[in-house]
Amino acid sequence: MQKLTRSLLRWYEKKGRRLPWRISPYDLKTGIKPDPYKVWVSEIMLQQTTVSTVIPYFNQFIEEWCNVAQLSKADQNEIISFWAGLGYYSRARNILRSAKEIMDKYQGEIPEEKDKLKSLPGIGEYTASAIRSIGFQKSDITIDGNIERIITRLFRIETPIRFSKKIIQKKAKLIFPKNRTGDFCQGLMDLANIICKPRKPICTECPISSFCESFKEGETDSIPVKVPKKPKPIRKGFVYFVKNNDNKILMERRPDEGLLGGLLAFPSSDWLENEPDLVFPIDAEWSQPFDKIMHEFTHFKLELKVVVGMAGKFHIKKSTYEVFDLHSLDESQLPTLMRKVLRKGKKLANQKI
Ligand code: ADE
Repeated sequence: MQKLTRSLLRWYEKKGRRLPWRISPYDLKTGIKPDPYKVWVSEIMLQQTTVSTVIPYFNQFIEEWCNVAQLSKADQNEIISFWAGLGYYSRARNILRSAKEIMDKYQGEIPEEKDKLKSLPGIGEYTASAIRSIGFQKSDITIDGNIERIITRLFRIETPIRFSKKIIQKKAKLIFPKNRTGDFCQGLMDLANIICKPRKPICTECPISSFCESFKEGETDSIPVKVPKKPKPIRKGFVYFVKNNDNKILMERRPDEGLLGGLLAFPSSDWLENEPDLVFPIDAEWSQPFDKIMHEFTHFKLELKVVVGMAGKFHIKKSTYEVFDLHSLDESQLPTLMRKVLRKGKKLANQKI
């Protein structure tokens, strides 16, 4: 094993994070095996979300659905509501579809084979490798965006990461060990998080700085080379917070397909580049002016005007509408955008009274 690899593994043993889906290097040595189910769930959650956000969701998820068989019997709305706050809700649908497929095709055992893993919804090249190296202790080279940054710095690759994926793969082969690949990969993830951070890396504490070409050249601030991001387009729309004297509010279950699919939401207009016409969803006393809230999705920014209405009785016009009690509404079931609407709506409605 190379010196760099050994140094990184030793650092991981001492300084690595203890995460609920992980088995520590010490426990692995005593023969304790990782649970591929936990590794799979964690990797799906971590696809677009930070470790600190994921930890409480992961713990609760495992408490509710502790194995594939249990998960496969869950109700889709239950999983989607659980996922509220984590974002990227297609992951919630995919994890349930995968669990059903694993029951049908693989008797409830998560498959080890790369092609079988990749054929499950929501599992691509990276996630399949991560499940294999971390969950099944296979030798798959596993490279996420953070590991790309470390390799780019180590080998002083002067092209932006987006254009150097092939070189990064090649260089990774030089440092990834055949044994303890999962530990090595998780060690790199921790190094990226604790030391080799995107900005201001703490090279004085890095266990592999003596192998780092960018460190030698004093270029860890300028490598990886960044490409300016295109600004996101802005979409606009209206969202309706309507309440009656009994503190009931009007909500809507969004259609399964599309953004925030299947989630509980406040009724809203389409979200368009040009502000759509204002069409009220039900009869109420609507008040102006409207406060705005902003939210960022992957491909666009959203500016919603919060329109507050006071209603007598709700005369429901659409079958997707549902009436909720404002005080017993479980905020944790709402996606982040709708939590913002709830907060703003409550405040504005109180001002109107
Ligand atoms: N990000 C993605 N997968 C991870 C893991 N297994 N540990 C820490 N961060 C991660």
